[in-house]
Amino acid sequence: MSGTILVAYATRYGSTAEVAEEIGDELRKGGARVDVRPVGEIDDLTPYGAVIVGSPIYMGKWLPEAQVFVERHQKFLRDIPIAYFAVGLSVAGGTPDATGKAEASMGSVRVLASPVDIGIFPGRLESDRLSSADQMIIRLIRAKAGDFRDREAVRAWARGLEMKIARV
Ligand SMILES: Cc1cc2nc3c(=O)[nH]c(=O)nc-3n(C[C@H](O)[C@H](O)[C@H](O)COP(=O)(O)O)c2cc1C
Repeated sequence: MSGTILVAYATRYGSTAEVAEEIGDELRKGGARVDVRPVGEIDDLTPYGAVIVGSPIYMGKWLPEAQVFVERHQKFLRDIPIAYFAVGLSVAGGTPDATGKAEASMGSVRVLASPVDIGIFPGRLESDRLSSADQMIIRLIRAKAGDFRDREAVRAWARGLEMKIARV
């Protein structure tokens, strides 16, 4: 792998952006050059030798802008090492069913460009910051608010990724 690593993310309330920053920070510690940017700000992928794309899960799916990013750049992404990560609340318990559902949120992008690895991380839900539509949904699905993020799990995944990216 040569060139800079891009960590591209979608986010609605900021927690996935912070997870992306953690990943970028850990990769920099390992000596890599890394850009961490929202998917909507990226047009040109040619400076990048590897790309990591992440999104929160909403109603079982990645945010549309993250899906669109992979669709738009799929040709380029198929020729370089890539990885995906998803951030969601249901994975906080770590049950096989929840993990399977979180993996399914990445199903449609995995068929477009196959990743060297995927990461699934617990996220954060702050009920008082949500839009009224989102508040209604979380009341219906009885989601529990809180910050369930695990910085060390995120950083450990990023360290493992360095080796997988380098091998490609
Ligand atoms: C309306 C709504 C729907 C959600 N749906 C899911 C879901 O289907 N699965 C899941 O694991 N988490 C779900 N979550 C939790 C979010 O993925 C989690 O809060 C995440 O950290 C938000 O990321 P963000 O701050 O980057 O927007 C949902 C949250 C909201 C508000």
